[in-house]
Order: sequence, then structure tokens, then C-alpha cells
Amino acid sequence: MREDQQRPVHLYNHQRNKFFITTKLFTHTTVYVIIVLLSYTLGYLSHSSPPPPPPPLPPPPSVFQLASLPTQLDNFRVAAHCSNSPLSPYLVFPTILQRVFQGSSPYTDFPPPHLRYILKPKRIRGWGSNGDVFEHLIKRVKPKLIVEVGTFLGASALHMVNVTRKLGLQTQILCLDDFRGWPGFRDRFKDINDINGDVLLLQQFMQNVVYFNATGSILPVPFSTRSGLEKLCEWGIMADLLEIDAGHDFISAWGDINGAYRILKPGGVIFGHDYFTAADNHGVRRAVNLFAQINHLNIRTDGQHWVIDTALVRKF
Ligand SMILES: C[S@@+](CC[C@H](N)C(=O)[O-])C[C@H]1O[C@@H](n2cnc3c(N)ncnc32)[C@H](O)[C@@H]1O
Repeated sequence: MREDQQRPVHLYNHQRNKFFITTKLFTHTTVYVIIVLLSYTLGYLSHSSPPPPPPPLPPPPSVFQLASLPTQLDNFRVAAHCSNSPLSPYLVFPTILQRVFQGSSPYTDFPPPHLRYILKPKRIRGWGSNGDVFEHLIKRVKPKLIVEVGTFLGASALHMVNVTRKLGLQTQILCLDDFRGWPGFRDRFKDINDINGDVLLLQQFMQNVVYFNATGSILPVPFSTRSGLEKLCEWGIMADLLEIDAGHDFISAWGDINGAYRILKPGGVIFGHDYFTAADNHGVRRAVNLFAQINHLNIRTDGQHWVIDTALVRKF
């Protein structure tokens, strides 16, 4: 006889009940789990999915990337009308005298009587104004006309006069400056006089030119660099050598370099101070680099100055 056949009947019934209860329970639990899962899935599907995270922003373009976008840079280009016929160097001083000073020299009877007692020649202060770069470039270019953009008291201009005299050159220098200095400059230069708050920077500069006997070599052009460069271009005045040393923020340096480049003779040299100074996060350097990049020109440095020699075209 088999073992189960030997089991008592009540035991058999008990097991059968247990089986039914377990099966029932299992069925209920399964149905419950399936319902929960279904409703969760439906809920999940019916919920609008959240937007995907935005793609990371591209890094801002560097000036060199911008330089490869000529259409954007066209907006920043200086586009003054320039004369088609360059003026002979011998006509430059007469033209400035005529157009800026109504035909007579600003040095005639200078200083006027009311300024004589306050204008004394000043110990001339500048910034890198006697650097070797001036002699290097004047020797190399032998300029007939130099335009200095940013003159102040005339330290660098008078140094250039000395160099050209030493080399026996007949060079003329136009000094473009509004002769206003910059806000706060009188904290540092306390001995420059004013009359009723109007600082005598132009007069002091002229006093220095007279004192160093350089009136035949230097003429001031007392305007903003922007309007002055535009007019020089319009009048056909072209320089062999251009020095840039006015505003040292990027925008000023960029405007001055671009404006000045339009009056540079082919093969001439444009150079300037403060390639290394931290003003406006090296604004001068950024402007010079960008300018050279766009125009395919090489930059070299000489002391504190940057130099672009247009006779040396970059070879690609
Ligand atoms: C650093 S100083 C020039 C120093 C001079 N090159 C030297 O070494 O003796 C700068 C001159 O630029 C002139 N300047 C600055 N911004 C100018 C602007 N937008 N227009 C005209 N002159 C400006 C100021 O009046 C100041 O005399």
C-alpha cells in the first residue's frame, strides 16, 4: 500500500484546503500587483515627459574666432572718406596751418603776454618716450612725415626731433592730441596750470616746443584722435611713420590703430606704446593683435612698444 493511501481522510482534507487558500491568495496578490503595475505604467505614460536638459552653451568666441567673421567686423571698421591724391610732404605743414590755424603759425608771438608769467618750460614727462624703438624706426624708415597720435607734453615728439636731427633728416611731425589729458591726470601732474579750470596742456606743450627750438619740426593738431585722423585722411596727409599712444582701452586703441592705418603710406611703419600694460585687460595688445590678424601683418615688440612694419607682409 502506498503511503498517501495510508493517510487519514481528515489530513487529506486539511491539505486540500491549504492548497485552495494558497492558490486563492496567490491569485489575489498577483492580480493586485498587476493592477498596481498597470496603473503605474499608465500614469507614467499619460504624464507629459519633462523637457530634455538644454545642450551646454558653446564657449564665447575669442577675438581670433571673431576675426574669421569679416562680416561682423565690418561693423567696427573705420570708413572715413580719404583723398585719392596724397599730399606732397612739403605741403603738409602749410595745409595744417591753413586748415587748422587760419593761415598763421600758432607759435607766432607765443606765449602771449597773459600766459608768460605762468608758462615755464616743464621737465618733460612721458612714458617710454625715449625708448630705443624711436631711433631704430627712424633709422629704418627715414620718414619725411611722422604722425604722433597722443602727445601730452611732447616728450616723445621732442625725442624724435632729436633723433632726426642727429641723423640729418628733414622730418616733420604732426602731434594729434585733444590736449585734455584724462580725468584725474592733474592728481599726478600738479604743476600744470589752468585758467578758470581750463588746463593749459596745449600751451604747455607749445612752450616746450618753443623752448627746445623745434617749432619748425612740430605742429600740434588739437582735436580728438577720431576726428583728427578722419580729417588728415580727407586732406590726403599720409605718414611714413605713425606712433599710437593715446587711449589705452581696447575701443580707443582699436579706433586709433584703424583710423591711423588709413593714413599710413604703403611700406610705412605703425607702432605704439603699452603693448604690455594691463589697462583694460591688455586692451592695447588685444586691439593690435586683432588688427594684425585681420590685415595679415606681423607684430614685433621693441622694448615696451609694438611695431607693425607693413613692408614685411606675412607669408602664408
Ligand atoms: C600717454 S599720453 C601720450 C604720451 C606721449 N606719447 C609721450 O610719450 O610723451 C596720452 C595722450 O593722449 C591724449 N588722448 C587720449 N585720448 C585721446 C583722444 N580720444 N583724442 C585725442 N587725444 C587723446 C591725452 O590727452 C594724452 O595727452
